[in-house]
Parts: sequence; structure tokens; C-alpha cells
Amino acid sequence: MPAELKTAAELDVEGKRVLVRCDLNVPLEDDGAGARRITDDGRIRASVPLLQDLTARGAKVIVLAHLGRPEDGPDPALSLAPIGERLQELLGMPVRIAQDVVGESAREAVQATEPDRVVLLENVRFDPRETSKDEAERGAFADELAAFADLYVDDAFGAVHRKHASVYDVAERLPHAAGPLVAAEVEVLRRLTEDPARPYVVVLGGSKVSDKLKVIEALLPKVDSLLVGGGMCFTFLAAQGHDVGSSLLEADQLDTCRAFLDTGKIVLPVDVVAAEKFAADVPHDVVSTGSIPSDRMGLDIGPKSVAVFRDALVGAKTVFWNGPMGVFEMEPYAEGTRGVAEAVASLDDALTVVGGGDSAAAVRALDIGEDRFTHISTGGGASLEYLEGKALPGLTVLES
Ligand code: 3PG
Repeated sequence: MPAELKTAAELDVEGKRVLVRCDLNVPLEDDGAGARRITDDGRIRASVPLLQDLTARGAKVIVLAHLGRPEDGPDPALSLAPIGERLQELLGMPVRIAQDVVGESAREAVQATEPDRVVLLENVRFDPRETSKDEAERGAFADELAAFADLYVDDAFGAVHRKHASVYDVAERLPHAAGPLVAAEVEVLRRLTEDPARPYVVVLGGSKVSDKLKVIEALLPKVDSLLVGGGMCFTFLAAQGHDVGSSLLEADQLDTCRAFLDTGKIVLPVDVVAAEKFAADVPHDVVSTGSIPSDRMGLDIGPKSVAVFRDALVGAKTVFWNGPMGVFEMEPYAEGTRGVAEAVASLDDALTVVGGGDSAAAVRALDIGEDRFTHISTGGGASLEYLEGKALPGLTVLES
């Protein structure tokens, strides 16, 4: 994994134009009046320290970021405008927002931005060359981006697993460094992978086993136990011979789950909240995992499972948690995630890492207290790929 990364603090940025890749890919919802509201601004807040530092040191900062996965060029629903407004509030200074990525508006916005201020370019994925598999296409886009600046800093930890123009190719074209967020994330993930203090317990949730196969395979030899909740637990329960009713089930993963269970390290729920359908306002009851009615689906782990998981966490010295235990966004199915989050947060003298994405959002939505964990990662997929031992393009390019 990565050698020492040069950090932004080591760059002389005064009077320079600095292109900064941030991960501002935050969840948005319709506010009912046609506007979009940010439901969790954790990634925007995490990006603020670098931007404050660079502007305080006299740099003109040009921020690059993506939002969602636009398929066909610019999509107003995925504009970075509302994110720019939030960034402006958090930074406490005006942020110029360009209407495009490398076009006329972007050029004018960069030009008009004062030497110690921030300009946000529009969603980089509005240009299909950003994500192109064709190196020449990505390279041509990266040339245009690089022309805006003297230096490049990557602070988009959540995107370092993507070989995209704004993450990888631009770094090849400009003197570069890692931002403090990337540096902090890598430091914590190193502690998880290089000789973690034991017992080392991993808690995994989320909907699909198939999304987590590689990370489970990589983690099982390293951990003392692996607790499985969320939608993915039903494929494990089915592999043990339980009838899981209409719960999420990946029949093609049963053999794989059996092989994982054979390690003896996997701990599964003993009860679940089973509901008539995927909705908050339908009949739902706690049932044991051995008696899930055939017409019900499990949408959360039950209280006995929370107790089993809490016991398995007692004394742990290293914990990595990724993925909610249930559909925490719906109040009747939030208690499993709350219980496990509380159990992890209450551990004394342990390295506790929340692995981004939905679990980080759950910590904030359920008001568990972010400062009760050692680290809350901003990168869901990126953290998992790091733990799988994969080389992450956005990190390897920073080493060069
Ligand atoms: C994320 O949300 O995990 C990152 O922003 C990367 O987004 P992506 O999975 O669309 O590349």
C-alpha cells in the first residue's frame, strides 16, 4: 500500500492556482418545492479544512468534484450549485460557482476569482471524458483541467478508487500532493491493515453480499470475528438452512456464504424485525431467525441480535464497521443500527472506524455523536477497496 504521501502542507501555494479534487458527492432529496436539499453534509464539512488552509496561505483554489453518476452529459438535477451554496456557508466566504467544467463559464469564473478565494467548477462527470476508459480521452480532458492551475491536491478520499481524469490523470500533469483528509484516511486504514490491535472485530451490513464478497474474503483471515447484519445477513441465514421469508436473498451466493461460515468467525443475528413489505407503516414484529414467516421480510436485526453483537464487541481493540444493520432511514427499523453504533461508540481504548457511506450517514442521522468514534471515513467504496488490498489509482498516482 502507499508509500509516504507528500501533503498539501508541504506545498508552497502562495500566489499559486491550486486545483483541488474534493468528494462532495452528498445525498440530496427533493424538498417538495422543486429544490434539492442536502440530507447529510458530512463530506462537505470534511473538505473545509484544506480549502480554508489553502486560501489562508494565499492560494486561488479551483475545486473539482462530482455528484452522482450522470449518464448523458449535463443534468440539472446533478448540478453542484446547492453544494456550492453549502460550501460557501461552511467556509464563511463567497464561493464562485461556474456553470460548466472546462467551458467559457469555467474559464471566466477561474479568471475572475481573487487570489485567496474559491471557485467551484460544475460536476466533472458532466463531461463524459472524466470517466472514459480511453486514456487519450481522459488525458485530453485532464489537459484542459490542468491548464487552470499550477498545482494539484487530491482530498477526495471517497473517489481515490476511481481511475478518472480529475482523480488520476490530472495528478500526472501537475506537481501534486495529498490533502489532509486523504492523509488522515490512509493513516487510519493503515492502522487497520498493518498489525491491528486484537481482538479485531468487523461489523458489516448493507444490502448485498455480492457487493462485499471481496472484502469479506480479504478480512476473514485477519479478523477475530465478523458480525453480519443488514440485508446481506439473510443470504447467510439461508445458507445455514433458515427460511428467510420474502427477505432479500441472493441465491447464487449461498455456497460462498457456506464457505465463509465454515471459518467459524462469522456471527449472525438471532432475531430480526420482520415486516409485511418494504415500508414503515405496515405490520412488523420481532421474530427469531428460525421462524421468519414466509410472507414477511426482515428489515432490521432484533434486540437479541444487538445484545449478541454487543457481547461480541466487548474487549475489542480494533473495530471496523461498514453498512447499516437495517433500513435505519425508517424509524421502525432503526434500532438495530442504533444499538450496534452505540456498542461500537461505547468501547474504551479501541480504534473504532466507521467505513463511510450509509453507516457514516447513520451515525449522524441517529445522533450517535461523531466524536465517539476514532474515525468516520468519508469513503465507502474506497475504504472497502483499500481493505481488500487493492491498489487505488488516486493514491498510487500521488506517490509518483
Ligand atoms: C462515493 O459516493 O462512494 C464516492 O463519491 C464515489 O462515487 P462513485 O461510486 O459514483 O464513483
